[in-house]
Amino acid sequence: MPDHDNSRMPSPDGTLRPGSDDALRPALDDAAAWHALAPLLRPYLPWTSGAMRPAGLATVLDDVWFRTPAQVVELGSGVSTVVLARLLRELGTGHLLAVEHDDSWATRIQRQLDRERLSDVAAVVRAPLRPHVRDWDDTGWYDEDLLEAAVGQQPIDLLVVDGPPAWQPGAEHARYPALGSLAGRLAPGARIVLDDIERAGEREVLARWQQEHDVVFDVHTAAGVAVGAWAGT
Ligand SMILES: C[S@@+](CC[C@H](N)C(=O)[O-])C[C@H]1O[C@@H](n2cnc3c(N)ncnc32)[C@H](O)[C@@H]1O
Repeated sequence: MPDHDNSRMPSPDGTLRPGSDDALRPALDDAAAWHALAPLLRPYLPWTSGAMRPAGLATVLDDVWFRTPAQVVELGSGVSTVVLARLLRELGTGHLLAVEHDDSWATRIQRQLDRERLSDVAAVVRAPLRPHVRDWDDTGWYDEDLLEAAVGQQPIDLLVVDGPPAWQPGAEHARYPALGSLAGRLAPGARIVLDDIERAGEREVLARWQQEHDVVFDVHTAAGVAVGAWAGT
């Protein structure tokens, strides 16, 4: 990110420098990120392979800490939603809207937010996937009316794109509509984080976003995310 260095890897002997392509770097970054996240990991959360990697989530949390965004929107809810909400509560500022297409998953995440009395800082919005004019491969997009109603008039300061699921063959570009669909709601200078950037589909989505919008992304390879700053178009 332009306003701070997110690198967490110490390089005491100079062999693992920030920006290195070393194959161990993602695992080491994740281990370092777990330490940084530790104060936010209680009570227990089930960290499955569907969740953001610790290093990617730490990148998002760092942005929240440094920039204190008023409105955070996360596409694709999960344990990341709960951890983000815990940080917002601790900071005492900002609100998170997590958009979820899967009704039963939405119920689980909302229940955890309720259990931890986090409902004043975070909410899960249920928005089923529907055919959408911006679909790349007819994979569908979150119901636009529900999405717009939930986001409301307050500009989005941080957009985390980790849904809809895009790992299945044929759904690799499922996240492409995110930027076109929410462009009009992004605040100038808003940060946009795209997860799973190691996958070919997300790389192709990123390339199209950069062609079609005035936004340039930094790819944080080891953390598995790309981070862009919205210029306003
Ligand atoms: C990449 S996941 C989103 C993960 C979330 N942002 C996180 O880091 O925890 C995309 C979708 O997969 C589904 N999902 C996520 N975690 C899941 C789990 N542990 N079990 C079942 N479905 C899950 C949800 O429908 C979610 O919207």
